[in-house]
Amino acid sequence: MKKGNRYGTHRVIEPKGILPQPAVKISNDMEIYDNEILIDVQTLNIDSASFTQIYNQAEKDLAKTEEIIKGIVEERGKHQNPVTGSGGMLIGTIEEIGEGIKDTTDLKVGDKIATLVSLSLTPLRIDNIKEIRPEIDQVDIDGKAILFESGIYAVIPDDLPENLTLSVLDVAGAPAQTAKICKFGDTVMVIGGPGKAGMLCLYEAKRRVGPTGKVICVNYDETRFEEIKEMGIADVCIAADATDAVGLLQKIEEVTNGELCDVVINCVNVENTEMASILCTKDEGLVYFFSMATSFTKAALGAEGVGKDVNMMIGNGYTKGHGELTIQIMRDSDSMRELYTKLFA
Ligand SMILES: NC(=O)c1ccc[n+]([C@@H]2O[C@H](COP(=O)([O-])OP(=O)(O)OC[C@H]3O[C@@H](n4cnc5c(N)ncnc54)[C@H](OP(=O)(O)O)[C@@H]3O)[C@@H](O)[C@H]2O)c1
Repeated sequence: MKKGNRYGTHRVIEPKGILPQPAVKISNDMEIYDNEILIDVQTLNIDSASFTQIYNQAEKDLAKTEEIIKGIVEERGKHQNPVTGSGGMLIGTIEEIGEGIKDTTDLKVGDKIATLVSLSLTPLRIDNIKEIRPEIDQVDIDGKAILFESGIYAVIPDDLPENLTLSVLDVAGAPAQTAKICKFGDTVMVIGGPGKAGMLCLYEAKRRVGPTGKVICVNYDETRFEEIKEMGIADVCIAADATDAVGLLQKIEEVTNGELCDVVINCVNVENTEMASILCTKDEGLVYFFSMATSFTKAALGAEGVGKDVNMMIGNGYTKGHGELTIQIMRDSDSMRELYTKLFA
């Protein structure tokens, strides 16, 4: 077996010398290197911002969606949406483990895993698309993928449905970071609160801020406000368009007595919501941009332009223990598990 680089640089075709994620094209030859793992892929969970863009480009036509998805993988050797730059993750069964890591990995052939590294850097070959489920951004395929030595993964637990696990692991970074950044007594706003990442953030924020804190759920419309109130994961629900920064600011001033939020967590799947997030945050507060539709330029220049001294955090999809924390929410909360199973599994 050929010796590979820990981060997969040996697979980069264009431009040479960079890492697989920013590369335009990587090799999806499925003969593995000595430090790689070959996966027989069952389902792709396409990142929401990416799937929304592809599906809209295809005018919500499934055959056209299939064509675009296959085209991306054929061209790039990975599923990295050229417009959003984002990927997603996958579920599959271990087919082969490279000789160089056989003795050190916990995995064995036949294990079912979800990869926790982005599809935007994962060598992927699609042989056949079996089903596209646009309502949950999932695509069942026949195909193979490669996990690099540095790649993180979660073994699929047997006490939860597989598609549910795949769905929640896709956004596991969001609730796990929420747990780290929200403090007792904080006012926290989650934009896109009823979304897949959003509700996990609401749940975790509510646990962290305690009875003296306040959790505000914002969404474009009132979708799932009733369920969110019933589950008690938000104190206030506001229907507002987050691309209208000043409009949302007025509403947040009303519900916080003009004090604004200590933490704003942005979980939307559309562009141009940076300014609403920034304006609704207290000076020296924190904006956590989990949304893949976030523009660094718009956030940085926008905050400066309105004279807001806020801290801004890029939504790293990984933080230690993120998979475990998110799966545990599904085990601990019957109502969350039931709702997520209905909506996203
Ligand atoms: N950082 C990472 O590592 C990482 C990993 C995975 C995903 N993501 C990103 O996280 C984001 C959320 O993903 P998800 O799976 O939770 O998506 P989702 O389930 O589609 O949720 C998005 C939510 O945003 C709401 N929304 C859309 N436009 C809005 C607007 N103008 N104003 C207010 N709310 C609006 C949507 O409401 P409607 O349904 O009513 O439109 C929906 O509730 C996406 O951008 C995704 O790409 C990031």
